[in-house]
Amino acid sequence: MTNFIIFTGSANPSLAEAVTKQLDVRLGNRILQRFPDGELHIEIEESVRGQDVYLIQPISPPVDEHLMELLLLADACRRAGAAQLTAIVPYLGYARQDRRARGREPVSARLVADLIKTSGIQRLVAVDLHTTALEGIFTVPLEHLSAVSVLSEAVRPWIEDNTLVVSPDLGAIKLAERYARLLQLPVAIAHKTRISGEEVHTKGIIGDVHGRAVLIVDDMISTGGTVKAAIEALLEAGCLPNILVVATHGLFVGTAVERFGALPIRRLIVTNSVNRPGNLPFPIQEISLGPLLAEVIQRLHNNHSLKDLIVHG
Ligand code: R5P
Repeated sequence: MTNFIIFTGSANPSLAEAVTKQLDVRLGNRILQRFPDGELHIEIEESVRGQDVYLIQPISPPVDEHLMELLLLADACRRAGAAQLTAIVPYLGYARQDRRARGREPVSARLVADLIKTSGIQRLVAVDLHTTALEGIFTVPLEHLSAVSVLSEAVRPWIEDNTLVVSPDLGAIKLAERYARLLQLPVAIAHKTRISGEEVHTKGIIGDVHGRAVLIVDDMISTGGTVKAAIEALLEAGCLPNILVVATHGLFVGTAVERFGALPIRRLIVTNSVNRPGNLPFPIQEISLGPLLAEVIQRLHNNHSLKDLIVHG
């Protein structure tokens, strides 16, 4: 196996281009179109026989379309004789449905994991997953990368003497601790309950935020309900009204844009794991995952360790 080749679907071509630019290679040619009945048609336009193939495709909204593109790209490469098939999925849709919260529900994350394996993908690379426990539902090896180091460096210039890190729910405590360790800041926690997909309620804040600047950290922003509820509770508890928000995945679906536009956010920092809407009416900074993903592809191709890039525990 001498070469590697990278293909991408339609979910985030600019990230795939950033990765190939960094590696000084070109993107593999493929056809991606729809038949009149809506079915997807994919064709790999160059030989992948015996090659180390990487597919860069977040499972971002519209999640079902992007998932299907990834699966069909993988199936095409497998049938065309790829020697090793790795999916680089910077944002893994369905990851939050990793258990049955109520009766008669699917475990959607598990089904997606099975589909990924069935498609011929032999190894999966993901970034800041909703929970590290997801590794247990994948039967292909999962390399779980973190953007926390690069995001911490991006937010560092905005940190003040009295800033503390806030976890917007109980599930993000470990993530908040990782930011707090890197930035050497204390942690407070918002106590959230989810009412629906769009609405959440924060019951209170654990920790003293009175008179302090805050940095809210989360793995993802979807509808913005979690961050909005946390900000409202923090302001009520007396924090300063110039809030920093950092999240790996900025989806901004539903009413997120309007919600964020109305909040006292000093700066919002996200990665380019997903293609986000342009011209947002609030101060946003985007950190590219291009260098990290390029480094990972190079190391995987050369069988070098990823230990310092991987999330543990
Ligand atoms: C949930 O546990 C996640 O970590 C995020 O807090 C949540 O998914 C964000 O979604 P939304 O922006 O819709 O509240």
